[in-house]
Amino acid sequence: MKKFLAFAVTLMVAATLSQAAHAADFSKQIKARKAVMQLYAFNVGQLAAMVKGKMPYDAAAASVAANNLLAAANMKQSAMWPKGSDASAPGLDGKTRAKADIWSQYPKVAEAGKGLVAAATKMAAAAGNGVDGIKANFGAVGGACKACHKPFRAPKK
Ligand code: HEC
Repeated sequence: MKKFLAFAVTLMVAATLSQAAHAADFSKQIKARKAVMQLYAFNVGQLAAMVKGKMPYDAAAASVAANNLLAAANMKQSAMWPKGSDASAPGLDGKTRAKADIWSQYPKVAEAGKGLVAAATKMAAAAGNGVDGIKANFGAVGGACKACHKPFRAPKK
């Protein structure tokens, strides 16, 4: 009986440990997708700075920023968004703002991703043609970010 109890306790500890490990399992994926978002934000920020006159307009730099945004948006991200890696999962509250709706409402999120590719494609074609080229496409790019954040990203805590 004593032996059996010890065995049962071992099993329970193992189960608890594996649960804890499971909760942390998504850390790399979450880090990677946040990195993609940071790439979006950095390159949009460069374009925004030129629109606002905080950075002098430079055709080559504008073109690079827009093409970087497009390249990042074109990355295949499915491995970075494993099902269950949302903020409601055990241990992930505070580590991610991804909502479970990303998976339950699939493929809506993929459509939102395509929306960004479409807007970034137009931006990449126009950004080198003067600051007005950026301005003409800025609303659509920002709108594409919002169109995904609103339904699929939880508010900041
Ligand atoms: C298809 C959906 C989608 C699109 C399009 C999208 N985002 Fe996100 N974004 C998310 C989700 C979901 C999160 C939360 C990720 C997490 O916390 O795991 C996020 C998080 C972020 C973050 C926070 C990253 C961090 O380090 O915590 C930034 C910044 C961001 N997005 C910027 C952008 C910008 C700028 C655009 C547009 C150019 C954009 N996003 C387009 C879904 C999207």
